[in-house]
Amino acid sequence: MNILAIETSCDETAAAVVRGGLHTLSNIIASQVEYHREYGGVVPEIASRKHLENIVWVVRRALVEAELDWNKIHAVAVTTGPGLLGALLVGVSTAKAIAYARKLPLIACNHLDGHLYALQANGQELPFPSVALLASGGHTNLYHMIGHGEYRLLGQTRDDAVGEAFDKVARMLKLGYPGGPAIDRLAARGNPAAIDFPRTYLEKGSLDFSLSGIKTAVLYYVQQNKINPETDQTVLPDIAAGFQQAVVDVLVDKTLAAARQCGVKHILVTGGVASNSLLRRQMAENCQSAGFTLHIPPPILCTDNAAMIACLGYYLYKQGKLADLTLNAYSR
Ligand code: KG4
Ligand code: ZN
Repeated sequence: MNILAIETSCDETAAAVVRGGLHTLSNIIASQVEYHREYGGVVPEIASRKHLENIVWVVRRALVEAELDWNKIHAVAVTTGPGLLGALLVGVSTAKAIAYARKLPLIACNHLDGHLYALQANGQELPFPSVALLASGGHTNLYHMIGHGEYRLLGQTRDDAVGEAFDKVARMLKLGYPGGPAIDRLAARGNPAAIDFPRTYLEKGSLDFSLSGIKTAVLYYVQQNKINPETDQTVLPDIAAGFQQAVVDVLVDKTLAAARQCGVKHILVTGGVASNSLLRRQMAENCQSAGFTLHIPPPILCTDNAAMIACLGYYLYKQGKLADLTLNAYSR
Protein backbone atom coordinates (compact mmCIF):
# COMPACT_ATOMS: atom_id res chain seq x y z
CA MET A 1 0.00 0.00 0.00
CA ASN A 2 1.45 3.38 -1.07
CA ILE A 3 0.62 6.42 1.02
CA LEU A 4 1.22 9.97 -0.15
CA ALA A 5 1.78 12.25 2.85
CA ILE A 6 1.85 16.03 3.18
CA GLU A 7 3.46 17.98 6.04
CA THR A 8 3.26 21.80 6.30
CA SER A 9 3.08 22.42 10.05
CA CYS A 10 5.95 24.91 10.23
CA ASP A 11 8.53 26.10 7.69
CA GLU A 12 9.15 22.99 5.56
CA THR A 13 6.84 22.21 2.66
CA ALA A 14 7.09 18.42 2.52
CA ALA A 15 5.55 15.52 0.62
CA ALA A 16 6.55 11.86 0.54
CA VAL A 17 5.44 8.47 -0.71
CA VAL A 18 5.99 5.46 1.57
CA ARG A 19 5.09 1.84 0.80
CA GLY A 20 3.73 -0.33 3.59
CA GLY A 21 4.69 2.13 6.34
CA LEU A 22 8.34 1.15 6.00
CA HIS A 23 9.73 1.73 2.51
CA THR A 24 10.31 5.38 1.66
CA LEU A 25 10.01 5.83 -2.10
CA SER A 26 10.40 9.61 -2.04
CA ASN A 27 10.85 12.29 0.61
CA ILE A 28 10.73 15.87 -0.73
CA ILE A 29 11.41 18.80 1.60
CA ALA A 30 11.33 22.41 0.40
CA SER A 31 12.93 24.45 3.17
CA GLN A 32 11.90 28.06 3.69
CA VAL A 33 14.84 28.89 5.98
CA GLU A 34 16.24 31.59 3.68
CA TYR A 35 12.94 33.54 3.74
CA HIS A 36 12.70 33.57 7.55
CA ARG A 37 16.39 34.09 8.34
CA GLU A 38 16.37 37.90 8.20
CA TYR A 39 13.56 37.94 10.82
CA GLY A 40 15.45 35.61 13.20
CA GLY A 41 12.63 33.06 13.33
CA VAL A 42 9.63 31.66 11.49
CA VAL A 43 7.14 34.33 10.36
CA PRO A 44 3.75 32.55 10.19
CA GLU A 45 2.38 34.67 7.35
CA ILE A 46 5.45 34.09 5.18
CA ALA A 47 5.31 30.37 5.98
CA SER A 48 1.70 30.10 4.75
CA ARG A 49 2.46 32.00 1.54
CA LYS A 50 5.56 29.93 0.75
CA HIS A 51 3.65 26.68 1.38
CA LEU A 52 1.05 27.87 -1.13
CA GLU A 53 3.73 28.59 -3.73
CA ASN A 54 5.50 25.27 -3.22
CA ILE A 55 2.93 22.63 -2.33
CA VAL A 56 1.91 21.66 -5.88
CA TRP A 57 5.41 21.08 -7.22
CA VAL A 58 6.51 19.37 -3.99
CA VAL A 59 3.63 16.85 -4.28
CA ARG A 60 4.35 16.33 -8.00
CA ARG A 61 8.03 15.81 -7.25
CA ALA A 62 7.17 13.21 -4.58
CA LEU A 63 5.28 11.18 -7.20
CA VAL A 64 8.00 11.57 -9.84
CA GLU A 65 10.78 10.46 -7.48
CA ALA A 66 8.67 7.53 -6.28
CA GLU A 67 8.18 6.64 -9.99
CA LEU A 68 4.46 6.26 -9.42
CA ASP A 69 1.41 7.81 -11.03
CA TRP A 70 -1.80 8.69 -9.19
CA ASN A 71 -3.34 5.27 -9.84
CA LYS A 72 -0.67 3.70 -7.64
CA ILE A 73 -1.42 5.91 -4.63
CA HIS A 74 -3.83 4.25 -2.20
CA ALA A 75 -4.39 6.92 0.48
CA VAL A 76 -3.43 10.48 1.44
CA ALA A 77 -2.14 11.35 4.91
CA VAL A 78 -1.71 14.88 6.20
CA THR A 79 -0.51 16.66 9.33
CA THR A 80 -3.47 18.45 10.91
CA GLY A 81 -1.67 19.82 14.00
CA PRO A 82 -0.14 21.01 16.21
CA GLY A 83 1.64 23.77 14.30
CA LEU A 84 1.04 27.12 12.63
CA LEU A 85 -2.62 27.23 11.67
CA GLY A 86 -2.22 29.03 8.34
CA ALA A 87 0.65 26.75 7.38
CA LEU A 88 -1.25 23.58 8.32
CA LEU A 89 -4.30 24.71 6.34
CA VAL A 90 -2.31 24.67 3.09
CA GLY A 91 -1.42 21.01 3.61
CA VAL A 92 -4.87 20.01 4.84
CA SER A 93 -6.65 21.74 1.93
CA THR A 94 -4.29 20.14 -0.58
CA ALA A 95 -4.78 16.68 0.92
CA LYS A 96 -8.56 17.10 0.93
CA ALA A 97 -8.54 18.23 -2.70
CA ILE A 98 -6.47 15.19 -3.69
CA ALA A 99 -8.65 12.81 -1.67
CA TYR A 100 -11.80 14.26 -3.26
CA ALA A 101 -10.49 14.34 -6.83
CA ARG A 102 -8.85 10.90 -6.76
CA LYS A 103 -11.48 9.29 -4.44
CA LEU A 104 -8.78 8.29 -1.97
CA PRO A 105 -9.03 7.61 1.77
CA LEU A 106 -7.87 10.57 3.86
CA ILE A 107 -5.84 10.15 7.06
CA ALA A 108 -5.34 12.87 9.70
CA CYS A 109 -1.96 12.74 11.45
CA ASN A 110 -0.75 14.37 14.64
CA HIS A 111 2.65 15.97 14.07
CA LEU A 112 4.18 14.67 17.32
CA ASP A 113 3.04 11.11 16.71
CA GLY A 114 4.55 11.53 13.24
CA HIS A 115 7.99 12.27 14.70
CA LEU A 116 7.81 8.95 16.58
CA TYR A 117 7.46 7.18 13.21
CA ALA A 118 10.62 8.68 11.67
CA LEU A 119 12.45 5.44 12.39
CA GLN A 120 10.02 3.52 10.18
CA ALA A 121 10.66 5.99 7.36
CA ASN A 122 14.25 4.76 7.61
CA GLY A 123 13.10 1.17 7.07
CA GLN A 124 13.33 0.10 10.72
CA GLU A 125 10.31 -1.24 12.63
CA LEU A 126 9.50 0.73 15.80
CA PRO A 127 10.68 -1.27 18.82
CA PHE A 128 8.00 -2.07 21.42
CA PRO A 129 8.01 -1.74 24.36
CA SER A 130 10.38 1.21 24.43
CA VAL A 131 10.94 4.70 25.75
CA ALA A 132 10.98 7.58 23.28
CA LEU A 133 12.45 11.05 23.67
CA LEU A 134 10.83 13.53 21.30
CA ALA A 135 12.93 16.70 21.29
CA SER A 136 11.83 19.35 18.81
CA GLY A 137 11.30 23.08 18.48
CA GLY A 138 7.90 22.90 20.17
CA HIS A 139 8.08 19.85 22.45
CA THR A 140 10.29 17.90 24.82
CA ASN A 141 8.36 14.74 25.65
CA LEU A 142 9.20 11.33 27.07
CA TYR A 143 6.87 8.47 26.15
CA HIS A 144 6.46 4.86 27.12
CA MET A 145 5.75 3.26 23.75
CA ILE A 146 3.66 0.14 24.20
CA GLY A 147 2.40 -0.55 20.68
CA HIS A 148 1.20 1.28 17.55
CA GLY A 149 -1.02 4.12 18.76
CA GLU A 150 -0.40 3.23 22.40
CA TYR A 151 1.92 5.82 23.94
CA ARG A 152 1.92 6.99 27.54
CA LEU A 153 3.35 10.46 28.23
CA LEU A 154 5.91 10.11 31.06
CA GLY A 155 7.23 13.64 31.18
CA GLN A 156 7.39 16.92 29.30
CA THR A 157 8.89 20.37 29.54
CA ARG A 158 7.36 22.75 32.05
CA ASP A 159 8.56 25.82 30.14
CA ASP A 160 10.68 26.05 26.95
CA ALA A 161 11.05 23.16 24.52
CA VAL A 162 14.65 22.10 24.04
CA GLY A 163 14.80 23.25 20.39
CA GLU A 164 13.30 26.56 21.48
CA ALA A 165 16.07 26.93 24.10
CA PHE A 166 18.72 26.25 21.43
CA ASP A 167 17.10 28.85 19.16
CA LYS A 168 16.85 31.47 21.93
CA VAL A 169 20.43 30.99 23.08
CA ALA A 170 21.59 31.19 19.45
CA ARG A 171 19.77 34.50 19.16
CA MET A 172 21.53 35.81 22.32
CA LEU A 173 24.85 34.84 20.77
CA LYS A 174 23.82 36.41 17.43
CA LEU A 175 24.32 33.11 15.62
CA GLY A 176 21.33 33.55 13.32
CA TYR A 177 18.44 31.25 12.49
CA PRO A 178 17.99 28.30 12.74
CA GLY A 179 19.82 28.30 16.04
CA GLY A 180 20.15 24.58 16.87
CA PRO A 181 22.49 23.65 14.02
CA ALA A 182 24.50 26.89 14.55
CA ILE A 183 25.13 26.04 18.23
CA ASP A 184 25.98 22.45 17.29
CA ARG A 185 28.64 23.68 14.82
CA LEU A 186 30.07 26.34 17.13
CA ALA A 187 30.20 23.99 20.14
CA ALA A 188 32.48 21.66 18.19
CA ARG A 189 35.25 24.31 18.59
CA GLY A 190 34.54 24.99 22.28
CA ASN A 191 35.39 23.41 25.63
CA PRO A 192 32.20 22.03 27.23
CA ALA A 193 33.80 22.17 30.70
CA ALA A 194 35.00 25.79 30.49
CA ILE A 195 31.72 27.23 31.80
CA ASP A 196 29.58 25.26 34.22
CA PHE A 197 25.95 25.99 33.34
CA PRO A 198 23.22 24.57 35.64
CA ARG A 199 21.50 21.25 34.96
CA THR A 200 17.84 21.30 36.04
CA TYR A 201 16.57 17.89 37.19
CA LEU A 202 13.46 19.07 39.14
CA GLU A 203 12.09 16.86 41.97
CA LYS A 204 13.64 13.47 42.59
CA GLY A 205 12.27 10.92 40.14
CA SER A 206 10.60 13.55 37.94
CA LEU A 207 10.71 12.91 34.20
CA ASP A 208 9.68 16.48 33.39
CA PHE A 209 12.12 19.01 31.96
CA SER A 210 12.79 22.69 32.58
CA LEU A 211 14.91 24.60 30.09
CA SER A 212 14.27 28.20 31.06
CA GLY A 213 16.87 28.20 33.87
CA ILE A 214 19.79 27.35 31.63
CA LYS A 215 18.64 29.82 29.02
CA THR A 216 18.61 32.58 31.69
CA ALA A 217 21.99 31.39 33.00
CA VAL A 218 23.48 31.92 29.53
CA LEU A 219 21.90 35.38 29.36
CA TYR A 220 23.36 36.34 32.79
CA TYR A 221 26.76 34.97 31.80
CA VAL A 222 26.76 37.13 28.66
CA GLN A 223 25.57 40.22 30.58
CA GLN A 224 27.80 39.84 33.64
CA ASN A 225 30.90 39.27 31.57
CA LYS A 226 29.91 42.14 29.27
CA ILE A 227 30.25 39.88 26.25
CA ASN A 228 29.45 41.47 22.91
CA PRO A 229 28.78 38.54 20.55
CA GLU A 230 29.82 40.65 17.58
CA THR A 231 33.28 41.53 18.91
CA ASP A 232 34.12 38.91 21.62
CA GLN A 233 33.93 35.88 19.38
CA THR A 234 36.68 33.86 21.11
CA VAL A 235 34.45 33.01 24.09
CA LEU A 236 31.37 32.05 22.04
CA PRO A 237 32.42 28.44 21.27
CA ASP A 238 32.86 27.77 25.02
CA ILE A 239 29.43 29.23 25.81
CA ALA A 240 27.81 27.15 23.06
CA ALA A 241 29.64 24.00 24.17
CA GLY A 242 28.81 24.55 27.86
CA PHE A 243 25.14 25.18 27.13
CA GLN A 244 24.86 22.20 24.80
CA GLN A 245 26.61 19.90 27.29
CA ALA A 246 24.31 20.91 30.15
CA VAL A 247 21.17 20.36 28.05
CA VAL A 248 22.36 17.04 26.64
CA ASP A 249 23.36 15.73 30.10
CA VAL A 250 19.79 16.22 31.35
CA LEU A 251 18.15 14.81 28.19
CA VAL A 252 20.31 11.67 28.30
CA ASP A 253 20.01 11.11 32.06
CA LYS A 254 16.21 11.50 32.09
CA THR A 255 15.72 9.31 29.03
CA LEU A 256 17.74 6.49 30.58
CA ALA A 257 15.94 6.98 33.91
CA ALA A 258 12.62 6.66 32.06
CA ALA A 259 13.77 3.44 30.40
CA ARG A 260 14.78 2.01 33.80
CA GLN A 261 11.45 3.09 35.34
CA CYS A 262 9.50 1.39 32.54
CA GLY A 263 11.75 -1.66 32.48
CA VAL A 264 12.33 -1.47 28.70
CA LYS A 265 15.45 -2.35 26.72
CA HIS A 266 14.90 -0.06 23.71
CA ILE A 267 15.29 3.71 23.51
CA LEU A 268 14.12 5.86 20.60
CA VAL A 269 15.26 9.46 20.09
CA THR A 270 13.59 11.70 17.50
CA GLY A 271 12.54 15.28 16.65
CA GLY A 272 14.67 18.10 15.22
CA VAL A 273 17.04 18.21 18.20
CA ALA A 274 17.82 14.51 17.65
CA SER A 275 20.06 15.72 14.82
CA ASN A 276 22.34 17.31 17.44
CA SER A 277 25.75 15.65 17.20
CA LEU A 278 26.51 15.65 20.95
CA LEU A 279 23.07 14.26 21.83
CA ARG A 280 23.54 11.44 19.30
CA ARG A 281 27.05 10.64 20.53
CA GLN A 282 26.36 10.81 24.27
CA MET A 283 23.06 8.93 23.99
CA ALA A 284 24.85 6.17 22.03
CA GLU A 285 27.69 5.91 24.58
CA ASN A 286 25.44 5.91 27.64
CA CYS A 287 22.96 3.46 26.13
CA GLN A 288 25.77 1.10 25.27
CA SER A 289 27.33 1.16 28.73
CA ALA A 290 23.92 0.79 30.42
CA GLY A 291 22.81 -2.08 28.14
CA PHE A 292 20.04 -0.28 26.21
CA THR A 293 19.56 -0.54 22.45
CA LEU A 294 19.39 2.93 20.92
CA HIS A 295 17.37 3.79 17.80
CA ILE A 296 17.89 7.21 16.19
CA PRO A 297 16.74 8.01 12.64
CA PRO A 298 19.22 9.86 10.39
CA PRO A 299 19.12 13.66 10.86
CA ILE A 300 17.08 14.30 7.69
CA LEU A 301 14.25 12.19 9.15
CA CYS A 302 14.57 13.72 12.66
CA THR A 303 13.65 17.22 11.45
CA ASP A 304 10.24 17.88 9.88
CA ASN A 305 9.43 15.67 6.88
CA ALA A 306 6.46 13.93 5.31
CA ALA A 307 7.86 10.38 5.18
CA MET A 308 7.31 10.03 8.93
CA ILE A 309 3.72 11.23 8.46
CA ALA A 310 3.14 8.58 5.76
CA CYS A 311 4.43 5.87 8.14
CA LEU A 312 2.12 7.00 10.95
CA GLY A 313 -0.71 7.26 8.41
CA TYR A 314 -0.22 3.63 7.41
CA TYR A 315 -0.90 2.39 10.95
CA LEU A 316 -3.86 4.72 11.41
CA TYR A 317 -5.27 3.38 8.14
CA LYS A 318 -4.78 -0.20 9.28
CA GLN A 319 -6.65 0.67 12.49
CA GLY A 320 -9.51 2.09 10.40
CA LYS A 321 -8.91 5.64 11.63
CA LEU A 322 -9.95 7.59 8.54
CA ALA A 323 -10.92 11.24 8.19
CA ASP A 324 -13.54 12.81 5.95
CA LEU A 325 -13.70 16.02 3.95
CA THR A 326 -14.80 18.06 6.99
CA LEU A 327 -11.21 17.65 8.23
CA ASN A 328 -9.70 20.79 9.72
CA ALA A 329 -6.34 21.95 11.10
CA TYR A 330 -5.65 22.83 14.75
CA SER A 331 -2.79 24.85 16.16
CA ARG A 332 -2.42 23.16 19.57
O1 KG4 B 1 11.23 18.74 14.69
P1 KG4 B 1 11.59 20.05 14.11
O2 KG4 B 1 12.20 20.08 12.74
O3 KG4 B 1 10.36 21.03 14.09
C1 KG4 B 1 9.44 21.04 15.13
O4 KG4 B 1 8.50 20.21 15.11
O5 KG4 B 1 9.65 21.88 16.04
O6 KG4 B 1 12.59 20.73 15.15
C2 KG4 B 1 13.15 22.00 14.93
C3 KG4 B 1 14.06 22.33 16.09
C4 KG4 B 1 14.58 23.76 16.04
O7 KG4 B 1 14.41 24.35 17.31
C5 KG4 B 1 16.06 23.57 15.70
O8 KG4 B 1 16.89 24.60 16.22
C6 KG4 B 1 16.35 22.24 16.34
O9 KG4 B 1 15.21 21.47 16.09
N1 KG4 B 1 17.53 21.60 15.78
C7 KG4 B 1 18.67 21.36 16.48
C8 KG4 B 1 19.60 20.82 15.55
N2 KG4 B 1 18.98 20.72 14.34
C9 KG4 B 1 17.71 21.20 14.50
N3 KG4 B 1 18.98 21.58 17.76
C10 KG4 B 1 20.21 21.25 18.17
N4 KG4 B 1 21.15 20.74 17.35
C11 KG4 B 1 20.91 20.50 16.05
N5 KG4 B 1 21.84 19.98 15.25
ZN1 ZN C 1 8.44 18.71 14.07
